[in-house]
Amino acid sequence: MEAPTILVTGGAGFIGSHTVVALAEAGYRPVVLDNFSNSQQDVLEGLRQILGYEVPCCVADCAHRSALFEAMEREQVRGVIHFAAFKAVGESVREPLRYYRNNLDALLTLVEVMLELGVHDLIFSSSCTVYGEPQQLPVTEASPILPAISPYGNTKQVGEEILRDVVRAGKPLRIISLRYFNPIGAHPSGLIGELPIGVPNNLVPYITQTAAGLRPELVIFGDDYATPDGTCIRDYIHVMDLAEAHVAALRSLERLSALASYYDVFNIGTGQGASVLDVVRAFEDACGLSLPYCIGPRRPGDVAAVYADATKAREQLGWTAHRTLHQALADAWRWEQRLQHLTGSRAKCQ
Ligand code: WQD
Repeated sequence: MEAPTILVTGGAGFIGSHTVVALAEAGYRPVVLDNFSNSQQDVLEGLRQILGYEVPCCVADCAHRSALFEAMEREQVRGVIHFAAFKAVGESVREPLRYYRNNLDALLTLVEVMLELGVHDLIFSSSCTVYGEPQQLPVTEASPILPAISPYGNTKQVGEEILRDVVRAGKPLRIISLRYFNPIGAHPSGLIGELPIGVPNNLVPYITQTAAGLRPELVIFGDDYATPDGTCIRDYIHVMDLAEAHVAALRSLERLSALASYYDVFNIGTGQGASVLDVVRAFEDACGLSLPYCIGPRRPGDVAAVYADATKAREQLGWTAHRTLHQALADAWRWEQRLQHLTGSRAKCQ
């Protein structure tokens, strides 16, 4: 039987490219659709080396209806995993219109084209930012959705509501929204990983660039939070565990194929919280390095602590994270070292 084709929008991105690997290893035929506005073409070379074949790729914007329709029809797509979106929290605060236009246009166009072509199964990339500053921890899928603290986070909340309402209207779609916690690490081969543009916003790429000598030191944004060591707590999940959660969600939708319409959401996290200082120590331990850091002011918009209750995904998707924080940090470091070797850049510290 031919491998079912799954369209991975934003498939050249960090989580998208790792999900392409997990899909192929699970017996699917992944096809990438990416406009490369926030990713690089040589990710496809990394995928070729890992998988041993060229992953088909359509260079197109998800919001470009005719291009999306033609790609999905030509490739005989059976299901879609939708990553394509802008995702920088700070940038979204500065450019809200660009974020709403891009992220919501892409989603609306995708759903309309799926309905036109009779493609039913969709996995939507959502985020734990929908929980805001949770009053109770760990957060479950029933935890209150608090007003988004950024336009980026709001595009995830609104995206979930759009999908929920379309299914409630009885449209023939089976949809799962996955609420990611903090994806970190890289494929153990070191051939694909996170490619931050400019100065990294996120903690782990900033740590690996500091260790690589591209940054003078890590600035820890505040150590006066109401947490054991005063630094913020997050649920850091290996990107390969996250990628495999998408396969589990797809298989769950296949089991539900008797249903015309279905919508549900799942937390995808490890269930363990780790503070910024925990991550620094784990990196030093995993990589045998000493990381220069200092304590700076709090970053606006940061919540003190958020981590997942991932029971629902374990019970209903048969998925659980099994890679450790140490493994993720060692994989992230291997990727950074390879990146620096490739680019030969020992760029002066910014
Ligand atoms: C983690 C912790 C920082 C950098 C963001 C998005 C979220 C999701 C994941 C897309 C915080 C601290 C960071 C630094 C630091 N992205 N930190 N110094 O903010 O939890 O989540 O990325 O879906 O939507 O909001 O991740 O890695 O930016 O920060 O001290 O140089 O590390 O204060 O406590 P965050 P992060």
